[in-house]
Amino acid sequence: MTVEDPSWIAAEIIRLGGVVSGERFMELALSHPEYGYYQRVGDAIGRDGDYVTSPVMTSLFGELLTLQFIEVWELLGCPEKFVLIEAGPGTGHLAVDVLKTARRFPRFDAALHYRLVETSPKLHIMQRQRLENDHLVHRCAWFSTLVEAGGEGIEGIIFGNEFLDALPVRWLEMTAGGLAEVGVQVLSDGTLATKTLPLACGMDSDYFKRLRLDLPVGMRTEVGVRAQEWMRSAGQVLRRGLVLMIDYGYTARDYYHAERLQGTLVGHHRHRRVDDPLACPGEMDLTAHVDFSAMARAGGEGALDLCGYVSQGWFLMGLGLLERLQGVVVQGKGGGGLGKDIRQTALRLILPEEMGEKFKVLAMTVGLEKPELSGFRLKNQWNEL
Ligand SMILES: C[S@@+](CC[C@H](N)C(=O)[O-])C[C@H]1O[C@@H](n2cnc3c(N)ncnc32)[C@H](O)[C@@H]1O
Repeated sequence: MTVEDPSWIAAEIIRLGGVVSGERFMELALSHPEYGYYQRVGDAIGRDGDYVTSPVMTSLFGELLTLQFIEVWELLGCPEKFVLIEAGPGTGHLAVDVLKTARRFPRFDAALHYRLVETSPKLHIMQRQRLENDHLVHRCAWFSTLVEAGGEGIEGIIFGNEFLDALPVRWLEMTAGGLAEVGVQVLSDGTLATKTLPLACGMDSDYFKRLRLDLPVGMRTEVGVRAQEWMRSAGQVLRRGLVLMIDYGYTARDYYHAERLQGTLVGHHRHRRVDDPLACPGEMDLTAHVDFSAMARAGGEGALDLCGYVSQGWFLMGLGLLERLQGVVVQGKGGGGLGKDIRQTALRLILPEEMGEKFKVLAMTVGLEKPELSGFRLKNQWNEL
């Protein structure tokens, strides 16, 4: 690769002046209208893709979430119109599972309005097709931003699974002179390399000091400024109800611990982690873990009340995953090995060494007086944020 024959992203960076911030790089790699990962790779999510997510693994995930959504609908007094906004719906599996489960609860089903917020044209098509196959497409509406989907403000749920981690992050380095930006430049041979840049606007040099976090010199890490903005806007969109976000992440104390000297920004390609975020832009997913303390703080600035924080394993067990699996196993005895497969897949969602501990669930509410949601009945670690 040379500058005369640059890769698409090198050409783009040169067009933008030869160096861009890490956040802009991530945005280009993921969402460039022609070459970005989410514009090109329609089948990235799944066993034959780059990674697999909970709704794609098993419909039990969506079924149990629906029970949590119904509980919130009841706490709100069973309103006749209940809007569920799903941010970053990926393959559309969750929408199908929620809408199918809702059929078993006719009053809830009649109230439910499902809105999908998606920016990738390719995934939008995939979602439509999947919903069409199940004759559910007429139950859904698509939007490209949360604010559009929220319209005049909603009563209901704002939900996202592995959505916040997909938003571009500020890539930062603690230098002897203070906090700096990590940028991406094109070298004279056309290859990409990182470059330390002065802190750009939108990021305060005392960000970590104010949080009483002491980062060692040399540490590279990230701050999800866009994700924070998104949480604030969720608070503006939601008039009454619940914001429920599931993702891999930590509390700020754990996220910015000195042991994570290189931060969490990595690629995912064919079920392998790629440590160099600059490798094969547009061909691999790029994500950073979520700082849930920052999400809770930003949600609070958007007038949301923190109501729950726990790992996915405890959350799904609180919603009855183990009891539900007992039923599946009994059915499986009559129906061959199916029950065993479902059980093993579902257990991956809750086992600590699989997705059970790595993934966390954050719940914030508006207009509900200290609700005790079933997902947090076994354990709630909100006071650790
Ligand atoms: C990692 S995938 C998760 C998909 C799905 N939630 C799941 O669990 O399988 C991230 C999703 O967020 C979408 N996305 C990324 N940035 C977005 C944005 N700014 N607004 C809406 N959707 C976005 C992607 O196109 C994709 O559908």
